[in-house]
Amino acid sequence: MSVTLDTIANLAKKRGFVFPSSEIYGGLRSAYDYGPLGVELLRNVKAEWWRSMVRDRDDIVGLDSAIIQDRQVWAASGHEASFTDPLVECTNCNNRFRPDKLEDAGVCPNCGERDSFTEARQFNLLLKTHLGPVEDEAALAYLRPETAQGIFINYENVRRTMRLKLPFGIAQIGKSFRNEITPGQFVFRTREFEQMEMEYFCRPEEAAEWFAYWLEQRMAWYVDLGMDKDKLRLRAHDEDELSHYSTTTSDVEYQFPWGWDELEGIANRTDFDLRAHTEQSGQDLSYYDQDQDERFFPYVIEPAAGATRTTFAFLIDAYSEEEVRGETRVVLKLDPRLAPVKVAVLPLSKKEELMPDTRAVAGALRSSWQLEVDVTQSIGRRYRRQDEIGTPFCVTVDFDTLDDKAVTVRDRDTMNQDRVAIDQLLAYLRERLP
Ligand code: GAP
Repeated sequence: MSVTLDTIANLAKKRGFVFPSSEIYGGLRSAYDYGPLGVELLRNVKAEWWRSMVRDRDDIVGLDSAIIQDRQVWAASGHEASFTDPLVECTNCNNRFRPDKLEDAGVCPNCGERDSFTEARQFNLLLKTHLGPVEDEAALAYLRPETAQGIFINYENVRRTMRLKLPFGIAQIGKSFRNEITPGQFVFRTREFEQMEMEYFCRPEEAAEWFAYWLEQRMAWYVDLGMDKDKLRLRAHDEDELSHYSTTTSDVEYQFPWGWDELEGIANRTDFDLRAHTEQSGQDLSYYDQDQDERFFPYVIEPAAGATRTTFAFLIDAYSEEEVRGETRVVLKLDPRLAPVKVAVLPLSKKEELMPDTRAVAGALRSSWQLEVDVTQSIGRRYRRQDEIGTPFCVTVDFDTLDDKAVTVRDRDTMNQDRVAIDQLLAYLRERLP
């Protein structure tokens, strides 16, 4: 189903997924805070990416590099000179915009003035800071705009210590920062965000093959985690869209409420970065192939996804509304691997006599899954809340439990209810939950 951005933003806030950053001071569109459910969902997305990229493979290893790096990194990578977006300014209200993102190129979206824009100029997106007590040019540093450079500057450390041979990959998840001209569409474009990137090093003549391989793998990852494949597509970049380091790029795009937009970029970065850092640092980052007795710079295929943006897309994709007995039921049909809460334990009433069994059931499940015990409100409202946050199973402890030592297990999607003996509950859920 199609859902509006407002519906998702409201649900995210109402249920504790995402809050605007600095909300008590009016909110900052540059960044968002992930609440108790959002942090679980985000962590699950990152864990699934890490599992498929690192843990399930023997050709890719992980890394966690620093956000602050030597300024020369960004000179060598080309970001100081070329990491820019075009910017126009409205001469009436002085607001600034990216011209390629304007709905009507002739009208200011802020004040409505016609033909008031200046000529476009290039605006550098690097977020600046100063290291140490003196705020001069020598102390200038940048918060990393991509995690990738941390991988390139550690390429030789990792290759040597892990004794890696081509082809191999280095993966990293972490925060990145860009001074975006127009952050917006909720968490889609922010100035602080999280990326999941992997640099796959290979022989130059094999790069095209690995590029095709990673396109397929990355599309399959989203579909395997339940994303609607009809809302996913690959789009090859035109020549004039390519980043300064890439010869071929395809985006994985998702059909967001405002239309098709980027979820992930998969690029052939060639040997651009390893060569650039070799030149800038004087350290030879070429590769010696013992079997062939030759030295060369590996090519790099890079699948680069946004963790926060992907989490947002999973939220949108999972949202559904159903008519149940004349009422609308909102359900997040998240894959159980992603659902922030896997099982909710709900005593039918707050009465003390149900608490020993409630505590026993929760105690038995807690070490296996993220759990929520909810004793407030009517059982109907509690089911509704669990549906809205995507909890796959609700376990209800009722007055019959006192006699039959069994509970009712309700399935989120089918709403079917099974009566399950408490001593069989763990096995029952293990068959159905990751
Ligand atoms: N290392 C390559 C690179 O950074 P990119 O296409 O600029 O490529 C990769 O970024 C991914 O990072 C994007 O596909 C998107 O998911 C995410 N991303 C980029 N800028 C973002 C922003 N301002 N807010 C949220 N996510 C962003």
